[in-house]
Amino acid sequence: MRWIVFVAAMIVAGGAFAAGEHGLDVNRLEPGSVSQAEGLAAWGRIHDVVSHPRCANCHTDDANVPMWSGPEYEKPGPHGMNINAGESRIGAEFLPCQTCHATSALPNTVPHAAPHAGAPWMLAPVEFVWFGQSENAICEQMRDPERNGGRDGDAMVEHILHDAELRSFITWAFDPGPGREAAPGTLQEHLDDTIRWVAAGMPCPGD
Ligand code: HEC
Ligand code: HEC
Repeated sequence: MRWIVFVAAMIVAGGAFAAGEHGLDVNRLEPGSVSQAEGLAAWGRIHDVVSHPRCANCHTDDANVPMWSGPEYEKPGPHGMNINAGESRIGAEFLPCQTCHATSALPNTVPHAAPHAGAPWMLAPVEFVWFGQSENAICEQMRDPERNGGRDGDAMVEHILHDAELRSFITWAFDPGPGREAAPGTLQEHLDDTIRWVAAGMPCPGD
């Protein structure tokens, strides 16, 4: 009996799919099969996601300060308690993020608790700065392998699938738990838009 309860709890906690599966439909498109206009429309929706506080609060500049939108979830401001991620971006120089943000793929259920995800909590590398940046600046950064971690378009798509497998930060942002506004749309739509944008040649509004 106890074993059955344990298994049932694991199924509930694990959601609809097992660890290691991304649970997404990958509708790949041939390069060049999407028009510039459709690609730009997809980019517009990607921008709505990446500029949302659930994403941009971790993609901050070389002041190394995470942003947050609690407790009243008004406009994002600097993380409370004087948190600084340091150049390590994990808080190694001061107070490590993981002191409060656990690493766990289980859903977030407690309002105002430090959120957790399936990868060690940290700021994104400083080249990936989005918070406070213009739409075109973010677009240029995301398509530039010199500043996006060496990724081409296919690797951007793989990054989303890998995130979903780990239930890491992107997956969390679309399902951040009670009291937090999720990033707009769904993870599936974000994946589809990224595939479209890549197939259109990653156009930016300033092109
Ligand atoms: C002393 C505990 C503590 C430490 C250390 C800490 N945090 Fe937090 N963090 C919290 C709490 C608690 C919240 C949620 C606040 C709320 O919802 O009211 C939070 C929220 C956040 C959010 C907001 C997420 C959102 O929904 O917008 C981000 C981003 C964040 N922390 C990043 C970091 C980073 C990066 C580090 C390490 C440099 C860090 N935190 C270190 C306690 C901590
Ligand atoms: C908890 C902090 C955190 C949150 C929240 C977060 N990211 Fe990130 N992001 C990171 C870290 C750390 C990396 C570097 C890891 C890597 O490159 O695999 C990263 C890298 C990336 C990259 C690859 C590099 C680039 O800039 O092109 C993309 C794309 C990305 N994140 C998208 C998102 C999106 C979309 C969201 C919201 C839906 C999001 N992130 C939310 C921390 C975060």
